[in-house]
Amino acid sequence: MSIGSRPFHYTRAIVRHIPDTLADNALRMNEPASPIDLERARQQHANYVCQLRQLVPDVLVLPGDDSQPDCVFVEDPVVVCGNVALVCRMAPESRRSEAAVLKAAVESLGLLTVEMTEPALMDGGDVLFTGREFFVGLSSRTNQDGVEFLASVFSQYKATSIRVLDSLHLKSLATMAGDDVIAIADNPAGRQTWKDISHLAAFQYTPLWIPDFGAANVVYINGCILHRSSREFPASAQVFKSLNCPTREVENSELSKVDGALTCCSVLIN
Ligand code: GLY
Repeated sequence: MSIGSRPFHYTRAIVRHIPDTLADNALRMNEPASPIDLERARQQHANYVCQLRQLVPDVLVLPGDDSQPDCVFVEDPVVVCGNVALVCRMAPESRRSEAAVLKAAVESLGLLTVEMTEPALMDGGDVLFTGREFFVGLSSRTNQDGVEFLASVFSQYKATSIRVLDSLHLKSLATMAGDDVIAIADNPAGRQTWKDISHLAAFQYTPLWIPDFGAANVVYINGCILHRSSREFPASAQVFKSLNCPTREVENSELSKVDGALTCCSVLIN
């Protein structure tokens, strides 16, 4: 299996529309303080797709499906590295059928697929690829069998388990924000995550401390950081803007009410 040698350089992306059922039926860790405004969610998502289109030449937009309330979160059913896509076995029954849609989509783009089997469980939101190695969150969605399955598929890379604290996914707390730079939430869970990553890593990374928990999830793509808006998180946005790197911002207030972050909404392919 050949693996792309230029991590974070992408030519294609996959996204999915928000289904009507998201507001009432999407999974969530806690009930949000205010109801989800579906129209606003769709505007914010359309802007996210618009920003992606300016960074990636080819964006495949799949329709939403009302029987899959979480289907906009395309990152979770599939993990792509190079020309191989690992189709995840997801823990929530309500999300299992999303995998077939993403499998067909990546196959239509020419990727090889491998389907995860029992007892492995994984959400792509738990998979942090640094370009050199994988860190995989052990969470309510991903188990050690899942980590071992991923390690067997992408055997060129080391895969290390990281305990996920107080969050849905590892990437709620830590995402790539540059070559060898990891954006980390500056809260107790984030600090422990960085301790674990830096202790277990095979390579060296620089932490980028992000003051707001909701802003540590960014998309690092083709040399640009796509991050949460200054309106939502002014202090965190300032951290990104002070880097020597192009940045773009998007709002994500509505999908974040059902634990949806920026990386959740796209599959990136190089
Ligand atoms: N709402 C995102 C998830 O729980 O999978």
